[in-house]
Amino acid sequence: RTVYVNGEYLPETEAKVSIFDRAFLMADGVYEVTSVLDGKLVDFDGHATRLARSLSELDMPEGPSRDELLEIHRELVRINEVTDGLVYLQITRGAPGDRDFVFPDPATTPPTVVLFTQSKPGLADDPKAKVGLSIVSVDDLRWSRRDIKTVQLLYPSMGKMIAKAQGKDDVWMVEDGHVTEGSSNNAYFIKGNTIVTRPLSNDILHGITRAAVLRFAEEAQMAVEERLFTIAEAQEADEAFITSASAFVMPVVEIDGVALGDGKPGPKAARLREIYLDESR
Ligand code: PDD
Repeated sequence: RTVYVNGEYLPETEAKVSIFDRAFLMADGVYEVTSVLDGKLVDFDGHATRLARSLSELDMPEGPSRDELLEIHRELVRINEVTDGLVYLQITRGAPGDRDFVFPDPATTPPTVVLFTQSKPGLADDPKAKVGLSIVSVDDLRWSRRDIKTVQLLYPSMGKMIAKAQGKDDVWMVEDGHVTEGSSNNAYFIKGNTIVTRPLSNDILHGITRAAVLRFAEEAQMAVEERLFTIAEAQEADEAFITSASAFVMPVVEIDGVALGDGKPGPKAARLREIYLDESR
C-alpha cells in the first residue's frame, strides 16, 4: 500500500514519524475517516469541514488546504486502486524534539499529516446489515469534548473489547442515564414513524453520516426528534440503528440482552440504509 506522510507518497514500510510526535506521546491529534464507494469519496466536504473545526477547537494550525487534502485523498484511492473502502487522515501537533506538555510553536514545529487507505471490497454489502448488531451499554468515561474528533480512542477500544467479551458487537455509552453514542458511531431508535437521536452538543461527535441520514429521513417520510433518550426507551423501540462513515446505517437488534421487536433488522432502518447508499454513490 502507498501512504502519504508530510508531502510524500511512500510505500507503507518506508513511512516514518518521530517518537516525539505529540499524537504518539499525548494523543494530541485529530482524524477523519471518509468512505469510498465505487471509487468515489463519500461526503468529502463534510469531513473537511469537521476537520477544520477540530483543528481550530484545539488551536492547531490549519494544515493542508481543503483542495490539497482532496487531491491527496483522490491520489491515494487511485494509486491503491480502492473501489470500496476508507481513507484515514490524521493531523497531529507535530514532533517537537522532546516531550513537553506545553504546545510547541507551530512556526518551528509543523503538523504531522498522515493519510492511508483501507481497501474493503463489498463494504456496502456487509452481511451484518442483514443480521443486525447486538449492543451492550457502558458508562461513558470519555472526556467532555467528544465533538472534537481526537485520536484518544482508548476508551472506545475498551468498549469494543467489553462487548466482544460478552459475544456482542458494540457498546452504546451512557451518561447521566442517557445514551450519548456508540463507540465509533451515532445511536438512534425508531418508534412508529419517528427517528429519535441525541441532539448535537459537546457530548457527542457530530457525525457526517448522521447529518446525511437525518436529511434523508424526510425522503423516507419519517419524522426526526433530537432529544435525550434512555436505554430502556430504546429497548422498547420498534427498531434501532447506528451510523458512521464505515458502517453507513447499520441495524441494531438487541440492547443489553433485550431483543427489539422480533429481533430481526426492521424495514425502516433497511430503507434508510438503502437511501443512504443510493445517494452516496
Ligand atoms: N468514527 N461517534 C463517534 C464517537 C465516532 O468515532 C464516529 C466515527 C461517529 C460517526 O461519525 P461519521 O458519521 O462522521 O463517521 C460518531 C469513525 C468512523 C472511526 O473512528 O473509525
